[in-house]
Amino acid sequence: MKNEPIATILIVDDYPDNLRSLAAILTIEGYKVRKAISGKVALETIRSQPPDLILLDIRMPDMDGYQVCLTLKSSPIICDIPVIFLSALDDTASKVKSFSVGGADYISKPFHAEEVIARVENQLRIQKLSQQLIDKNARLQEEIKIRQDVQEKLEKAHFNLEKQARDLRVTNHKLQEALAQLQLTQTEIQQQNEILLQSTQREQEKAQILEETLAKLKYTQSQLIQNEKISALGRMVAGIAHEINNPVSFIHGNIFYVNDYFKNLIELIKFYQKTYPDPTPVIKEIESRIDLEFLIEDSEKLIKSMAVGSQRIQEIVLSLKNFSRQNESELKSVDIHENIDNTLMILQHRLKAVGDRPQIEVIKDYSQLPKINCYAGQLNQVFMNLLSNAIDAVETQPSPRRISIHTALISNLKLLDTVSYATLKIKDNHHQEHNCQSLIIMIADNGQGMSKEIQKNIFEPFFTTKPVGRGTGLGLSISHQIVVEKHGGKLSCISAPGYGSTFIVEIPICA
Ligand SMILES: Nc1ncnc2c1ncn2[C@@H]1O[C@H](COP(=O)(O)OP(=O)(O)OP(=O)(O)O)[C@@H](O)[C@H]1O
Ligand SMILES: [Mg+2]
Repeated sequence: MKNEPIATILIVDDYPDNLRSLAAILTIEGYKVRKAISGKVALETIRSQPPDLILLDIRMPDMDGYQVCLTLKSSPIICDIPVIFLSALDDTASKVKSFSVGGADYISKPFHAEEVIARVENQLRIQKLSQQLIDKNARLQEEIKIRQDVQEKLEKAHFNLEKQARDLRVTNHKLQEALAQLQLTQTEIQQQNEILLQSTQREQEKAQILEETLAKLKYTQSQLIQNEKISALGRMVAGIAHEINNPVSFIHGNIFYVNDYFKNLIELIKFYQKTYPDPTPVIKEIESRIDLEFLIEDSEKLIKSMAVGSQRIQEIVLSLKNFSRQNESELKSVDIHENIDNTLMILQHRLKAVGDRPQIEVIKDYSQLPKINCYAGQLNQVFMNLLSNAIDAVETQPSPRRISIHTALISNLKLLDTVSYATLKIKDNHHQEHNCQSLIIMIADNGQGMSKEIQKNIFEPFFTTKPVGRGTGLGLSISHQIVVEKHGGKLSCISAPGYGSTFIVEIPICA
């Protein structure tokens, strides 16, 4: 009670004694007390400064308590102030009227202090509670309003959400349709891509086949040219051999008779000298002019050297004939050494010393070889290519210029790689177990040698390091083909710059 604000109580009574005694009771109780001597004064003070409670006398001149109360209750600002009527009238009708005009309580005169205080306190408490109720109600109203607002907003949001959901569903549907369309288009594109890819692949395959065919054609054409060159060379060699053969046979055949005739003539001269030791001056003069002694002595040597020379020419002609004959393309049993020698014979002009060009020494290290079944003409082509390359390689080098040829028969299957062996097996039509050996021909030179980069390409058709017009770049590729594909063999090379080159031909021979 002490901490609460002090309540203001207005006492309205036309009897100053009443006012005083009541004010005294309430002031003692700690209330703030205001006083009004008439109804009109009371209304004025109430309007200007509303009290918390009014003690209102019923019987007053001018304006009685009921009228004051009715006026009070008709004004919305002050209608809630509780009014306790004071009256000497103790009848029920007055009390009922008091309540009907809006009075909150009723105190009968004469006053009893305890009753006044109890009723005042009671009204103030009711007033306070109802004020709290009003406040609470107002807060509740406010809360309800807020909740309604929130509810409204929620409903709005819900409505918006539903709308958005509807929109989303529509959009989703549209998207799904678009996606389906897209998937359809994508499938179509993929199909078209596949078709395109396939046709590109086909085109690429075609292009590759065309490229390969073109390369093969080029290669075959060059091979034909090479073959033609070799066979032209063969024909020329055969022609020359044939033309030289007759006169040489004629010379060689007659040398025996020349020698015989010379011997007889010399014998006759010697007999004449013995019989006529003193010849005539004319004969003497002729003897010294022709230097008869020397002539007799030298003619024998002369005829001998002529015989050797013609013999050599005959051998050369034979080699040439052999060389040209072996251009025939069928499989033959040949003496490989003879073939190498014949090839060397053809290349003799490049090996001999001419002018200030020093000779190229050829070292032969031949092993004992049986006759070999091979395509002799084509192997000649290989020897020709390898030896020509070796000559080209040493030609730019200072003396001594050397080419060594080594042959061997190796009975070692390891030397054959499986591919070559398989080729050989396929070629064979007897279908029996073979005792395989390998014929090795090594042609080494002390020329400039080759870098690793060059070695990688030497068997490629048209690869050459020689100046234009000097090399076609086909020699080794054709040789490789002859050795590997025709004979099921192997053609390899060992070389390093500054250390010369060695080419190894390996031909499998099966008994
Ligand atoms: N013995 C060797 N020493 C050094 N380099 C060589 C030897 N043999 C071949 N080569 C190199 O290999 C290349 C290819 O040789 P290949 O015989 O195939 O063609 P080419 O000799 O250039 O021309 P072609 O033989 O058609 O006239 C040569 O240009 C050369 O560079
Ligand atoms: Mg060559």
